[in-house]
Amino acid sequence: MSFLLIKGGRLIDPLQAVDGLYDIVVEKGRVKDVLKAGMLAGNDLKNKGKVIDAEGLWVIPGMIDMHCHLREPGEEYKETIKTGTTAAVAGGYTSLAAMANTIPVNDNASVTDFILNKASVEGAANVLPVGTVTRGMKGESLVDMGELKDAGVVAFSDDGRAVMNSEIMRRALEYSKAFDLPIISHCEDTNLSGAGVIHEGYVSAVTGLKGMPSESETVMIGRDIALAELTGGRLHIAHVSTAYGVELIREAKARGVNVTAEVTPHHLTLTDDAVRGFDTAAKVNPPLRGEKDREALINGLEDGTIDVIATDHAPHSLVEKDVEFDAASSGMIGLETSLSLCLSLLFKKRINLSALIEKLTKNPARILGLERGALKKGFKADIAIIDPNAEWVVDTSKLYSKSANTPFRGWKMRGRVVKTIVNGKVVYG
Ligand code: DOR
Repeated sequence: MSFLLIKGGRLIDPLQAVDGLYDIVVEKGRVKDVLKAGMLAGNDLKNKGKVIDAEGLWVIPGMIDMHCHLREPGEEYKETIKTGTTAAVAGGYTSLAAMANTIPVNDNASVTDFILNKASVEGAANVLPVGTVTRGMKGESLVDMGELKDAGVVAFSDDGRAVMNSEIMRRALEYSKAFDLPIISHCEDTNLSGAGVIHEGYVSAVTGLKGMPSESETVMIGRDIALAELTGGRLHIAHVSTAYGVELIREAKARGVNVTAEVTPHHLTLTDDAVRGFDTAAKVNPPLRGEKDREALINGLEDGTIDVIATDHAPHSLVEKDVEFDAASSGMIGLETSLSLCLSLLFKKRINLSALIEKLTKNPARILGLERGALKKGFKADIAIIDPNAEWVVDTSKLYSKSANTPFRGWKMRGRVVKTIVNGKVVYG
C-alpha cells in the first residue's frame, strides 16, 4: 500500500473551520486521514510511501478556478488544455471551469465530450466544461441544457458576451432551477459599452481612449437580479467590477435572492491607471475601474457579498495584443499570478486568511456542486502547498501559459506554490 504523507504544514481548510498544524495522509487518490501534527509519531509510514515535509509551509485544498478560458478547441495557438492546466497547477489550481467561448463554442455534447476526453488524457488539473446559454452564443435561442448537463457541464455561460435578450435570460434562469446548475452571467449592456475600450472616467478623458460607463455593467446586474428574483433561478455574476454592482448584489442577498458573485485578482489589485501608458495587456472586459470601485470590491469580499475569486484567465497571442489599443483583444492571463495577488490583500490586512482561502476553494466548490475544495476524509486529494514568504518576480518567459499577456510582468510577488497534488498525484513541484 502506498501512502503520501504531508507532514507538519499549517492546514487552512475553511470548510472544516481548520487552521493549525496537521499531517495529511493520502491514499488511492483520496484524503485518508487528517491528524494533528505529531500524532503519527511511531507510526512508520516512511517505508510505505512518500513523505513531503511541509514544516513552515501552508497546506490548502487545491484551488478551484470557476472562470477561465483554455481556448481549446479552436485557438490552440493561444492556449491548450495541456498548457492551461499546466499553468493552473503551477499556480495552485487543481480544478478549472473552462468557459464556453471556444471555436466551436461549447453548445452541444460533442464539444463537451471532446474537452473532457482531451482533459482526461492531457490535463494536469481537473477540467470542468461550461456550456453556453444560447446556441452558437448568438443570444437568440437556448441550448439544449439537458443534453449539456448529461454530457458533464457544470454551469452555463455565454461569457465574453452578454445575453442581451431578457426573455431568453429569464428562461435560462427558470431552467437552471430544474437542472440545478448556475447561469454565469457576463453583465454588460453592449449598447451602453458600445465602442468603449477602457473604463469611462478620468483616464479615458485624458488618454482619449473611448470609455465604457460603469452602468453598462450595473444595469445588467440589476436586470439579472430582477430575473433571478422572478424565477428563483441560480444566478452567478461573473467578474464584478463596479462599486454599485457590489451594492446591488449585497441588497439582493439581503432579500434572499439566489445570487452569487465573483471578482478577479486584477480588479482587486489594479485600476484604470494601468492603461494610462496604453498597455494592451491591461485591456480587459470588464475594464479595470477606479480606486473607489476597487475598494468596494475588497469590501464586498470581506463582508461575503462576493463569494469567489476567479481568474478570468484569458490568453491572447501577440497577434491580438501587439497592436494599437483600440484593436487589441480584451483579456489577461491569470492562473500563475492569482495566488500572490490574492495574498497581497492578506499581507495588507485587507482580508483574513480563512476568508481568502474560502473564496478560492470552498465557495467555488459549493456553487459548482463539487465534492472538492476541502481536505476532508474521503474527499479527492487535491492539495496546494504554499510558501507564504517566497518572493519571486513575474517573468513571462518562465510562465507555463502559452500566452504572455499580463500587465504584472516584472512585478515582485510574495507567496508561491511549492507543490500541487491532483487526485493524490504530485503534478507540480
Ligand atoms: O477580457 C475578457 N476576455 N473578458 C471576457 O469576458 C472574455 C475574455 C476572452 O475570452 O478573451
